[in-house]
Amino acid sequence: EARHQRVLRGPLLSFLNDPGEGDSPEPGSVLHLDDGALWLDGGHIRAIGHYHELAPHLTEGIDVVDYSGKLMMPGFIDSHVHYVQLDIMASYGRQLLDWLNEYTFPEECRFAQRAHAENVAEAFLDEQLRVGTTTAQVFCTSHPVSVDTFFAAAHQRGLRMLAGKVLMDRNAPEDLTDTVLDGIRDSERLISDWHGKDRLGYTLTPRFAPTSTPEQLDATGAILRNAPDLHLQTHLSENSGEIAWVSELFPDCPDYLGVYERYGLVGPRSTFAHGIHLTQEMRSRLAAAGANIAFCPTSNLFLGSGLFDRLACREAGLNTSLASDVGGGTDLSGLATLKAAYQVGQLLGQPLTAWQGFYRLTLGNARALHLDAHIGSLREGGDADIVILDPQATPLLARRSARTRSLAEQLFALMILGDDRSVYATWANGECVHHRDTAPH
Ligand code: GUN
Ligand code: ZN
Repeated sequence: EARHQRVLRGPLLSFLNDPGEGDSPEPGSVLHLDDGALWLDGGHIRAIGHYHELAPHLTEGIDVVDYSGKLMMPGFIDSHVHYVQLDIMASYGRQLLDWLNEYTFPEECRFAQRAHAENVAEAFLDEQLRVGTTTAQVFCTSHPVSVDTFFAAAHQRGLRMLAGKVLMDRNAPEDLTDTVLDGIRDSERLISDWHGKDRLGYTLTPRFAPTSTPEQLDATGAILRNAPDLHLQTHLSENSGEIAWVSELFPDCPDYLGVYERYGLVGPRSTFAHGIHLTQEMRSRLAAAGANIAFCPTSNLFLGSGLFDRLACREAGLNTSLASDVGGGTDLSGLATLKAAYQVGQLLGQPLTAWQGFYRLTLGNARALHLDAHIGSLREGGDADIVILDPQATPLLARRSARTRSLAEQLFALMILGDDRSVYATWANGECVHHRDTAPH
């Protein structure tokens, strides 16, 4: 059977490189076509160019989907999010450790049940596609069934997703803790069932230092040493109470990061969520390892964790990615994440340009996660994962868009005023998987 071919026609924007922090993007870092075309062939982009240049080469009878007046971009990427916390978003009035004990751990206990996990996994993926996120690095719970259901749901939709079983063998309810041996055995079984299956990849997921014994962290490091193509994610230096607790639990380690270093968890495919309270020396150690910090602005604000110093990381040569961290985060939307990141930047005197923001949501996150061979940009041979933004999504946004005099202003208006309504459609694996106004075609 011939693969499904289609052409998406309209304005398009994709990054070729980091645009930098200036008001204008670095030369050569942005591809913007007013009347562009993406020729999709199965799950890949077969060709990209000006519509009028591509048109003569199109196969006879090929469907052309008209997105004039919209803006096509690579599907957004969320570098750190907990699908299992979807239903406890917006739980009031706590900082990290109380929030975990009062809301998060009780909710995560429910994921021992397959039916609950299936229900939430489907709802989570629906929501992600509604906000234009086509790839995420996802925390499940410590129950293997929470991982099987997530991967099965993502696989059925043809998505590129990273996920893993949470490893946690102490300092949490019994229904949520594993053991060193079971944690490793379950992770290895899940890796063999799901890692590299079509577009799925496995992320080793020790929750954070306080909920793992040294033995569990050590065993996790051993898996990573033997399989360096796996990802790893955990949490680091989010909250001052957490940091004090880590220094009590690991008195022999020089600092919080030193715990992860000791057990071999800090590598080029390691993502550390938050990393708010770090010294410049710690940032340099993370940079030397090629790791990345997931900046989670809505979560950092919601849990009162602190203001992330993005430019200090850049100065240290440390990769940063952007993440929602739902359910600590208040919004799955990449646009909402950018808005909060901009506001945090304002408080630190380091405002985020729209260029830098949209770069981070797409190619920047893809690079940080070593997925840029497949996603993060619109280019020949890349995965056909695309978000279609609508600058006229609401009456207000239409008025504001009418006033913009440049692409930079238009992008900035989308990043501050945009939300799920501004996502007109989402394509993944060459298929329309979300359409705001109609059933997907
Ligand atoms: N630290 C350990 N677990 C969590 C979690 O689930 N959310 C956040 N924000 N921080 C954590
Ligand atoms: Zn998190």
